[in-house]
Amino acid sequence: MRTYRIAVIAGSLRKESFSRKIAKYIAGLMPENFEIDLIDLSGLDMYNQDLDDEHRPPQSWVDFRNVIGKADGFLFVTPEYNRSFPAVLKNALDIASRPMRENKWGGKPGAIVGVTPGNMFAITGATHLRQPMASLNIQLMLKPEQFIANAAALLDENGGVKDAHKQQSLKEYAEAFAKWVEKVLA
Ligand SMILES: Cc1cc2nc3c(=O)[nH]c(=O)nc-3n(C[C@H](O)[C@H](O)[C@H](O)COP(=O)(O)O)c2cc1C
Repeated sequence: MRTYRIAVIAGSLRKESFSRKIAKYIAGLMPENFEIDLIDLSGLDMYNQDLDDEHRPPQSWVDFRNVIGKADGFLFVTPEYNRSFPAVLKNALDIASRPMRENKWGGKPGAIVGVTPGNMFAITGATHLRQPMASLNIQLMLKPEQFIANAAALLDENGGVKDAHKQQSLKEYAEAFAKWVEKVLA
């Protein structure tokens, strides 16, 4: 059976990030032949094109580009910041899209989950993230969608999901994403 390497990317640097907890939870639902790299964006320097033009990228970019280059697919779990997705995620997308003609995301399958402790499901933030996906040529799973509201109430102290209905829907989502990865890479 073929194995797939999935980079799971939560768009938050916060220690107790709900997005990261949900990312880990979904990662734990993926089939055994899916190896998960839970990406930490905290050390990633801000993108500056001069550093690529002058062939002196920071080590944090080099390492991140390697990880993204080796990944077969991507699961993005994003909070919503001011009705869009956080800058830390945009920075990550930009870094692995460069240098020119060395886009590490291109042609690979991806999926987006929106998470918020609020009650409006982070739909706008997660949907904004679709926009750069097209430019990066990430093969995005459009359905099923997964938006999570009231994340603080949903998660227990161990990062588990309390609600049985949501557990089932996240399980189905992970299975659908696994099938999507297999289909795109077939
Ligand atoms: C700058 C900023 C903007 C925010 N804007 C929104 C928003 O537009 N919609 C929303 O549901 N929550 C918003 N929030 C609240 C976040 O959903 C909340 O801080 C959440 O915990 C962030 O995700 P995390 O737990 O993964 O770090 C915002 C928070 C910050 C810091």
